[in-house]
Amino acid sequence: MDSQVLVAYGTKHGGTAEIAEKIGQVLREAGLRTDVHPADRVSDLTPYQAVVLGSGVYIGRWRKEAATFLKANEQALAERPVWLFSSGPTGEGDPVELTDGWRSPNALQPIVDHIQPRDVAVFHGVLDAKKMNLIEKWMIKQVKAPLGDFRDWDAITSWATTIADVLGASSPR
Ligand SMILES: Cc1cc2nc3c(=O)[nH]c(=O)nc-3n(C[C@H](O)[C@H](O)[C@H](O)COP(=O)(O)O)c2cc1C
Repeated sequence: MDSQVLVAYGTKHGGTAEIAEKIGQVLREAGLRTDVHPADRVSDLTPYQAVVLGSGVYIGRWRKEAATFLKANEQALAERPVWLFSSGPTGEGDPVELTDGWRSPNALQPIVDHIQPRDVAVFHGVLDAKKMNLIEKWMIKQVKAPLGDFRDWDAITSWATTIADVLGASSPR
């Protein structure tokens, strides 16, 4: 059977959806059959040999649909190669340094430990004042996070290429 890859994501303002689409594009170009879906639209992982799951970060947490997906599919994910990513920090510099070492939500750590992902990435995010509500704008002002699109498409492409290499190198199971 052909291997099939799922890229699932949680987003509020669409920035993470575009990152997921980019990852999907890289995987397809590498010859992998790949579906890209919002995490709350996928209920069965049976068709998928591997899963990439990502979310925008809000106050140190993942979007509910991504967190729910991780919890609901814990066992199926533990049985497959999985890659996790978050998109959040804005500003120049290393994204993990910008988040003071934050890599994934504390509340999900026991599940992440069980799943044993191949990698857990943090990518820069995007803050668009036109998309934020008043409370969000107020919160962002408090933490002085820079507005703008800081997504690093080269870093995202190179991470996705590594995934394609790993999956291309392993025989379907
Ligand atoms: C109210 C609010 C809280 C946020 N909290 C965090 C945070 O705790 N850590 C972080 O790295 N980014 C945080 N961000 C930045 C978002 O993660 C970033 O804008 C991301 O690209 C949003 O993804 P989305 O467009 O897919 O929803 C926050 C943004 C908003 C508006």
